[in-house]
Amino acid sequence: MPRREELQGKVAIVTGASSGVGWQSAVRLAEQGVRLCVTARRRDALEALRARVEGAGGECLVVPGDVTVGEDVDRVVRTCLERYGRIDLLVNDAAVQTYGYFDQLPWAHIQRTLDVTCMGFLRFAHAVLPHFRKQGSGHVLNIQSMLSEGAAPLLSAYTAAKHATLGWAKTLKLELHGTGIQVSNVLVPSVSSPMFDHAPTQFGLQPVPVPPTYDVDLVARAVVKCARRPGRTVTPAFLQGTLLLWLDRVAPFVGEAVLGRYGPRMQMERASVDRPEGNLFQPVPQGVGAYGSVPATPRWKRFTAVAGLAALAGGVLGGAALGARGLARAVR
Ligand SMILES: NC(=O)c1ccc[n+]([C@@H]2O[C@H](COP(=O)([O-])OP(=O)(O)OC[C@H]3O[C@@H](n4cnc5c(N)ncnc54)[C@H](OP(=O)(O)O)[C@@H]3O)[C@@H](O)[C@H]2O)c1
Repeated sequence: MPRREELQGKVAIVTGASSGVGWQSAVRLAEQGVRLCVTARRRDALEALRARVEGAGGECLVVPGDVTVGEDVDRVVRTCLERYGRIDLLVNDAAVQTYGYFDQLPWAHIQRTLDVTCMGFLRFAHAVLPHFRKQGSGHVLNIQSMLSEGAAPLLSAYTAAKHATLGWAKTLKLELHGTGIQVSNVLVPSVSSPMFDHAPTQFGLQPVPVPPTYDVDLVARAVVKCARRPGRTVTPAFLQGTLLLWLDRVAPFVGEAVLGRYGPRMQMERASVDRPEGNLFQPVPQGVGAYGSVPATPRWKRFTAVAGLAALAGGVLGGAALGARGLARAVR
């Protein structure tokens, strides 16, 4: 069992804090007494977060920056150290995604998605690790995705970036063994963040997550748990989490058939949007705060889906057992 960390008074840098998972994780960490340094490109959104955190009695330093710009990353780390004198936790969250068939995506979109979503994590960790080494402690907590393990159509560049960051994080964990520096990952399912209001799309239709969609706060609470018990890779959801990972291992053809056939349609709404570049190169004004326009799937619907899947699996396993018994009798 990993050691339990006391969070009161700890210092955390949270990237991508102007909305969604980053915003809500910052709010939840501050509730535990963590002193924050929050960053993203939208200063106004970060100031709104600061007002909220300080209004609740917390501490929050705002340092806007772009995770693709090395000087910005160094400035965030330096300013945090100047204010608090230490850094205990880096929550790597900032990411972008871009919807389109791989061969139809502009090359610049593919590169930018990888630069923000993968290289942004690496840049921040690279800037923070020398301080962690000096301290002999620290924690790199990466906001990953179910797409760090699996795949979905229309999100090839994002999926590549997420697989890469998980591979990097696993290696980093091995390299830091015995140093007192921890590495954790949270495998995020589809959540009700503004990501789908930010993302560029080649289809002119509003992107939506692969269902079911969970409340952003599920992830923020997992981040707090992970900050307390570092060093793990956690999967906060069951249906689009533990169960899906297991199913993908035992019967990968099921996911391939469903997502191959229905995946593109599942990820688009009829509502039209004109967002060919979204928030890739410049931030967009919409989507500040934890929640976006896509609501979370009601709990009863998720429960019904799990019950349906369990019944299906029971039927398949029962049928297979009966078939095997019949076969065994026939060959006897
Ligand atoms: N939403 C989901 O269903 C889902 C599913 C799996 C994993 N995740 C993961 O959850 C994390 C957060 O995503 P989210 O859902 O909260 O989306 P989001 O609301 O769009 O948040 C993304 C954050 O990244 C920041 N950002 C984007 N480009 C940046 C850049 N170049 N430099 C600095 N900051 C930048 C954005 O702020 P600015 O625009 O102000 O810079 C924003 O704060 C990501 O790591 C994502 O991969 C989300």
